[in-house]
Amino acid sequence: MALALKGSVSWVGKIDWELRKFHGDEYSTHRGSTYNSYLIEEEKVALIDTVWAPFARGYVADLAKRIDLAKIDYVIANHAEIDHSGALPELMERIPDKPVYCTANGVKSLKGHYHKDWNFRPVKTGDRLSLGTKELIFVEAPMLHWPDSMFSYLTGDNILFSNDAFGQHYASELMFNDLVDQAELMAECIKYYANILNPFSELVTKKIQEVLAFNLPVDMICTSHGVIWRTNTVQIVQQYLKWADAYQEDQITLVYDTMWNGTRVMAEKIAAGIHEADPQVTLKLYNLAKSDRNDVITEIFRSRAVVIGSPTINRTVLTSIAGLLEEMKGLKFRKKKAAAFGSYGWSGESVKVIAGQLGAAGFTVVDDGIRSLWNPDSQAVDACVAYGKKLAGLLK
Ligand code: FEO
Repeated sequence: MALALKGSVSWVGKIDWELRKFHGDEYSTHRGSTYNSYLIEEEKVALIDTVWAPFARGYVADLAKRIDLAKIDYVIANHAEIDHSGALPELMERIPDKPVYCTANGVKSLKGHYHKDWNFRPVKTGDRLSLGTKELIFVEAPMLHWPDSMFSYLTGDNILFSNDAFGQHYASELMFNDLVDQAELMAECIKYYANILNPFSELVTKKIQEVLAFNLPVDMICTSHGVIWRTNTVQIVQQYLKWADAYQEDQITLVYDTMWNGTRVMAEKIAAGIHEADPQVTLKLYNLAKSDRNDVITEIFRSRAVVIGSPTINRTVLTSIAGLLEEMKGLKFRKKKAAAFGSYGWSGESVKVIAGQLGAAGFTVVDDGIRSLWNPDSQAVDACVAYGKKLAGLLK
């Protein structure tokens, strides 16, 4: 499948309707994804990025029907991760001498992945590649989100090929931002930002400011996943600037796991107390054992505070909560408050463990949390409601 975009630019990628897990088991993709590859047919022909390895053979076969592969002058690898470079081995078998443009880190990554000594042409920010009357301008974007990442900009058509930035795991045959369901689109955008780009927020702000300072008109943003931004391109750029600036809404998210419902009862009573004292705040409760971890992380990203609970098991927390806390450390949330709770039968360390991990993850832990022995009795239930009322103030 190929799709004409603008001028001499076509989309020649792959829609992956079946994808439900990405990065191994690390990222849930409820709506599938796309691997976007772009063909620019000017006096010189450039191919920007490819597709994930399982689709390599079909991708190269389709591309060969679209254009004589020998007519491709330049291969551009904006990013070496396998979902975009995965078809390079198949392609380069067919055109082994064609130059591959990428960053110096891209050369290292591509060699590391494929152990091939292709005709690499490392580029730096500001380097230009003439396609005839139009040019590609390269902009390095290290750690957005890999060391090798870069953007390419096509003059004349004013297209920014941003690779992962501004993307979403969202399969749609409609392919353009203005044609798809807007709520679905933005839900996938914020999930992508929260789970992938959040640790690099300071770099996101700097890079956007750097690109804006070039004063280049941007009529279209061609990302490497999901839909192409062809209307109101400034919308997603402004949204990224907001998300990068310690984003939060008036929301508190409670996340827990439970063995015999004691910690679940605590969660619901703490939430009731918060609601009583602060009826305006949006409260969301998630039993992590029954919820999608990436969706929960997205809700944490949207929150001004989190309250995390686990019963004590073997002097620590349930593995679901342990895994979430570990992931939260890596995601580098900023300016968010937190508290901990949990039920226990004898030793009761879970609350301390959660509070310690939340502190290590950069959250401001507002107090020592609350514990409840065995299944909460009426007194313990009242204590949880009272604790929720207190938290409503502490978590402001
Ligand atoms: Fe879509 Fe970083 O790969």
